[in-house]
Amino acid sequence: MKPIQIAIDGPAAAGKSTIAKIVAEKLGYVYIDTGAMYRAITMKALAKGINMASNEEAGKLLAETEIDLQPSEDGQLVFLDKQNVTEAIRSQNVTKAVSEMAAHELVRMRMVELQQQLAEGRGVVMDGRDIGTHVLPDAALKVFMSASVEERARRRFVENQKRDILTSLEELQAEIAKRDKMDSEREVAPLRQAEDAIYLDTTTLTIEQAAQEILKLAEERL
Ligand code: C5P
Repeated sequence: MKPIQIAIDGPAAAGKSTIAKIVAEKLGYVYIDTGAMYRAITMKALAKGINMASNEEAGKLLAETEIDLQPSEDGQLVFLDKQNVTEAIRSQNVTKAVSEMAAHELVRMRMVELQQQLAEGRGVVMDGRDIGTHVLPDAALKVFMSASVEERARRRFVENQKRDILTSLEELQAEIAKRDKMDSEREVAPLRQAEDAIYLDTTTLTIEQAAQEILKLAEERL
């Protein structure tokens, strides 16, 4: 069977990465979390004190930065200038700043190029915000996954507890809503459902149910 490309987009903390990982594992495909790339460059910008609003500074930083994603047993490892930053990019500081960095055209052009290279000629499950609309416009299956903002904040709260990140539910909800707004309103490749994407509301679904739903859709396209 010829492997297919599966694009999963949606707002913050909708469960995309958890579910995409399961789907990739079941199909024997590579899982690619594109948000990790935007987080990695943001982490470096914060460490260097770069002005996040400047397109020029972001471009300069990008030119001297190497970002690499490698498949691992748990999903994906993220390397920034050869350093493993898989966990570090999940910090609250990075989460709060990432949408500003991800709005720059130069940054997006470079990341999309890397993402397309990673997906070339293989079965992939790729999650992000613009995968169905820009990165993999010909993907055989496109899913736009969402859930109520309350449910998404609750899920992120539980996930954060496991990482010892103690942010209140109210603060998480506000942060998620703000990030969604910035990601949806930016000029370049905003968060949008592709015309040919299938909408999946996971508010009342378990992780397993949502994964099954996507696997069923994938099998119809194999
Ligand atoms: O998926 P995650 O929440 O880790 O993504 C972090 C941020 O990276 C998003 O809020 C968005 O600003 C940016 N992003 C993006 N395009 C993608 C993936 C992520 O702009 N394909």
